[in-house]
Amino acid sequence: MIDRTKIDLSKTPKHIAIIMDGNGRWAKKQGEMRLFGHNVGVESVREVLKGAKELGIKYLTLYAFSTENWNRPKEEVEGLMDLLVRTIAGEVQELHDSGVRLQSIGDVEGLPVNCQSELMAAIEHTKENTEITLVLALNYSSKWEIVNAAKKIAADFAAGKIAEQEITSELFDSYLTTAGIPDPELLIRTSGECRISNFLLWQSAYTEFYFTEILWPDFKKEHLYEAVYDYQNRERRFGLVSEQLNSNI
Ligand code: IPE
Ligand code: IPE
Ligand code: MG
Repeated sequence: MIDRTKIDLSKTPKHIAIIMDGNGRWAKKQGEMRLFGHNVGVESVREVLKGAKELGIKYLTLYAFSTENWNRPKEEVEGLMDLLVRTIAGEVQELHDSGVRLQSIGDVEGLPVNCQSELMAAIEHTKENTEITLVLALNYSSKWEIVNAAKKIAADFAAGKIAEQEITSELFDSYLTTAGIPDPELLIRTSGECRISNFLLWQSAYTEFYFTEILWPDFKKEHLYEAVYDYQNRERRFGLVSEQLNSNI
């Protein structure tokens, strides 16, 4: 296990994104219902948020509910929405007191109305905080986000607000629900699955991926440290050759 002292605090990622996976399998192993796993998973969110703050991470994005997750059994979807509303309502003061700014990405309008209002209230309540930004990906799907951005760009082009030459990668960024949030340097997925499941496709063009077998409810601060330590020992080349990174050629 990696402890915090092994981490170079001057080289931590600014933004870590996590696909929190494995709640259902964790619950099954305990002989419990899947929803029990989701409930216990909230404890890991608290842990990881604390751990991220301690490392000076400025953005933590958590994939909490994908657009595809609506296709799960009705009981599980309702349970997840209920958990979301209860957790946001129950945690907002604590988040605020510890300097957390809450934001969300995804198709918020597709969430149940009580979820939207709880979420919006918490975002408003915490908007001035600067310690760390916690971004919840809710009803999120990258393909939806990219198509949605393309539609908005098309509308602005048709309305004469933007010219074709102005459509750049940076402009595209500004039409995504992640506008204003830097791309993640590190993306972690728990539970042993090595796929991206429609998460941050555009934003992870040069992200380092870290896959771990740990199931989300078992994921603790130490596992976050391990991922960051692993990240710090990689060479990010951005298309260059190794020698170019260490000299001025
Ligand atoms: C991740 O855990 C949480 C959500 C997708 C909401 P899962 O519910 O996907 O757990 P597994 O993958 O079935 O174990
Ligand atoms: C991805 O997990 C979505 C979230 C963690 C919210 P899934 O469990 O839904 O992904 P797949 O179905 O295994 O790809
Ligand atoms: Mg899963």
